[in-house]
Amino acid sequence: MTTYHIRAAGEEDVEAVLALRRHAEDWLREAGIEQWTKSAYGARVIKGWIGAGSTFVVSTDQGEIVASLSLDAGDPDFWTPEELKEPALYLYKFIIRSDHRGSGLGDILLDWSGYRSEMAGALWLRLDCWRDNKGLHKYYLDRGFHYLTTRTHPTRMSGALFERSAELRLATSSAATLIDHTFGGAEFPGGAARN
Ligand SMILES: CC(C)(COP(=O)(O)OP(=O)(O)OC[C@H]1O[C@@H](n2cnc3c(N)ncnc32)[C@H](O)[C@@H]1OP(=O)(O)O)[C@@H](O)C(=O)NCCC(=O)NCCS
Repeated sequence: MTTYHIRAAGEEDVEAVLALRRHAEDWLREAGIEQWTKSAYGARVIKGWIGAGSTFVVSTDQGEIVASLSLDAGDPDFWTPEELKEPALYLYKFIIRSDHRGSGLGDILLDWSGYRSEMAGALWLRLDCWRDNKGLHKYYLDRGFHYLTTRTHPTRMSGALFERSAELRLATSSAATLIDHTFGGAEFPGGAARN
């Protein structure tokens, strides 16, 4: 059983989150997937998200950052004003380093994102993703997300819209445990509090 720790990202994490992004871009390129491989992407953007308090990093017991995600408001390039008024939180830049994928960590992080959404008063966990990437769509469909629609944007390739109920909890793997340092070091989901 691997224990992971999740906490809000700080300025000191910019380099680590940027390295995760580069790692994901390399993996996607090697897999022949166009997603994320054509746009320049800077530390400044990541710094902005981290400064806004919407990015979270996941580390091992040894303190090595191996995953990150952001939860924020919806992107008005893809969601209508009416949709943006609905009680939802939006998942962005969900990345797990390759050597920690397939371990059940992804499912736990999606459940945790739903939990955070509920805590924020949301009924839905939503995301927009690369509109032509069927493999990625399958990933979310297999994890309880419903496909809503695809919206195009002249300069962006995202726009496939998905949502799932914020209260959904699907993780079954006992291979990974998540300690939630945004919530006093409690084990997610449930369990005794740890520090
Ligand atoms: C998405 C992610 C966090 C999920 O991690 P995980 O829960 O451990 O799941 P896995 O990495 O084992 O992926 C499960 C399946 O989805 C596929 N998949 C994951 N990301 C994909 C992508 N961007 N494009 C196409 N397929 C993808 C994997 O290849 C795998 O397929 P397989 O079952 O046929 O082997 C991780 O795969 C990742 O970091 N991907 C790259 C970045 C990314 O695309 N993030 C999502 C942005 S919306």
